[in-house]
Amino acid sequence: MNGRGAALSVADAMALAVEASEAARGISSPNPPVGAVILDADGIVVGIGSTRPPGGPHAEIVALAEAGDRARGGTAVVTLEPCNHTGRTGPCSQALIAAGIAAVVHAVADPNPLASGGGAALRAAGIRVEQGTGETEVRQGPLRAWLHKQRTGRPHVTWKYAATLDGRSAAADGTSQWITGPQSRAHVHAERAKLDAIVVGTGTVLADDPRLTARRPDGTLAPHQPVRVVVGSRPIPSTAAIRGSDAPTVFLDTHDPAAVIDALHEHTDIQLEGGPTLAGAFLAAGLVDRVVAYVAPAVLGSGPAAVENAGIGTIADAIRFRTETVTMIGNDILIGVVPEGAK
Ligand SMILES: NC(=O)c1ccc[n+]([C@@H]2O[C@H](COP(=O)([O-])OP(=O)(O)OC[C@H]3O[C@@H](n4cnc5c(N)ncnc54)[C@H](OP(=O)(O)O)[C@@H]3O)[C@@H](O)[C@H]2O)c1
Repeated sequence: MNGRGAALSVADAMALAVEASEAARGISSPNPPVGAVILDADGIVVGIGSTRPPGGPHAEIVALAEAGDRARGGTAVVTLEPCNHTGRTGPCSQALIAAGIAAVVHAVADPNPLASGGGAALRAAGIRVEQGTGETEVRQGPLRAWLHKQRTGRPHVTWKYAATLDGRSAAADGTSQWITGPQSRAHVHAERAKLDAIVVGTGTVLADDPRLTARRPDGTLAPHQPVRVVVGSRPIPSTAAIRGSDAPTVFLDTHDPAAVIDALHEHTDIQLEGGPTLAGAFLAAGLVDRVVAYVAPAVLGSGPAAVENAGIGTIADAIRFRTETVTMIGNDILIGVVPEGAK
């Protein structure tokens, strides 16, 4: 990780903390994937930490352990307000006080009533506490799904698809591998390695026989694999790649998106990677919290659209989104949107 050696501004330290937070996605679930950076009294990075798997230390504790005595008089820069709660691990606020930290900057306040109050406890101990640096980046980035679950009580659902410029998700003969280029596909795999579950319909499994694992560019498996979920009634052959032992697989015999979400209620970060039927059902049910579209500069002219049967008959009923990000990946365009009015 970069950023060590020279004195850093708090904003630059937060960028490092966001990177550390991102690295904990998938691994920390159901706990929030937090990142923490400790700056010494001169602003030099002396510790970086990410939330460890459940039962393990929180990000602040990992970063403080690395910093040791150099934390005294320094600043802790954290993506989420330090917890004040004694769960499986002790309160981070007390560990920061004991380490002699002079200031704490956190991006997002903790909405969880059990864990919140860390800021107040730190202030009561004479520590300067500021909130807000990097807030948008953290809300739209590593803590998006966890904050959504705290707010709504259900997992966050991303619908991800690849399409051509004319919105086709497969050719007329049903082939769709590959619409986008290798950089986009590598991006999809890196993102999969941070998810709790991937959901597809039987149509995708029967058409493409996908493995739906998270793989590195050299083909090896990423350390964290999301649960694969197949929705629908048709039987899946015993030889299907999705039945392989590289990741767990769950089969749900339903057409009801709400029942799918109920069955996955223990998860936080879910991605739909199915075809147009599954996407239409989730959109019609209002159960898509973000759309991630990999658009290839290619035209098919015929073949299924990215989504079918979303229950819309007239332009006034179009489901409208707010564009959050537009990024070029190789020769493709990655578009991230959230429902209008989403937090
Ligand atoms: N470009 C992309 O990003 C992308 C991604 C995935 C797939 N694809 C392409 O999409 C095509 C497959 O499309 P698809 O629509 O069949 O795939 P799908 O949406 O993954 O699967 C459809 C099946 O899901 C089940 N299902 C679940 N909820 C449903 C509901 N509410 N209503 C109806 N059925 C529901 C049904 O299975 P049962 O009939 O078994 O009950 C249905 O036949 C393939 O050509 C594939 O290559 C493209």
